[in-house]
Amino acid sequence: MKVLGISGSPRKDGNTALLVKKAIEFCEREGVSVSFISLSEKRIEHCRGCRACIKPPYKCAQEDDVSEILEEMKSADAILVGSPTYFSSVSGKLKSLFDRTLPLRADNYRLSGKVGGAIAVGGSRNGGQELVCMNIHNWMLLHEMVVVSDKETAHFGGIGVGRNPGDVLKDDVGIKTTENLARSLLDFIIK
Ligand SMILES: Cc1cc2nc3c(=O)[nH]c(=O)nc-3n(C[C@H](O)[C@H](O)[C@H](O)COP(=O)(O)O)c2cc1C
Repeated sequence: MKVLGISGSPRKDGNTALLVKKAIEFCEREGVSVSFISLSEKRIEHCRGCRACIKPPYKCAQEDDVSEILEEMKSADAILVGSPTYFSSVSGKLKSLFDRTLPLRADNYRLSGKVGGAIAVGGSRNGGQELVCMNIHNWMLLHEMVVVSDKETAHFGGIGVGRNPGDVLKDDVGIKTTENLARSLLDFIIK
């Protein structure tokens, strides 16, 4: 079993990366293999809408770092996606990645049945993190993934507050909901 964590922040060691790492470290302690990708280090072009990828061999016409991320997604049993809250939505970089996953859907729903969870961080307590989680959930649902929430706290996933990198480590609710999300996810993939 493998859990993939993706941080959609352009800040390498920002709050989103810290919470996604909390979640995958939790999974690792439970004996599950994990991997982590920060989009901050990846070159991700926007989808051009050419639709070349919807026919065999289901490959984007652009050469950048997206193909290696899609391979990681295909090999995972569960995917945790985190994003900073940007104007109450996901980061532009994460949205570009979401759009570029069209070939996985076109190729007979390659993410179908994988378990997914969302993590969002915002600078304000009510800054739109729930909307960010719903953006992420919507992407997962369109890939026929199984969306889970945070066990016991049971809302939208891991939701943190923090403005400067590291702030989120002082947010007990953010850490608790993130670990509860990881627990929920493991319940689905470990039989
Ligand atoms: C362009 C931009 C838009 C933002 N919009 C919001 C927002 O709508 N709501 C909010 O709570 N925080 C907002 N923030 C603050 C970030 O969500 C916050 O700093 C977060 O910790 C960033 O995560 P990171 O450290 O992983 O990059 C915004 C920050 C930027 C740079």
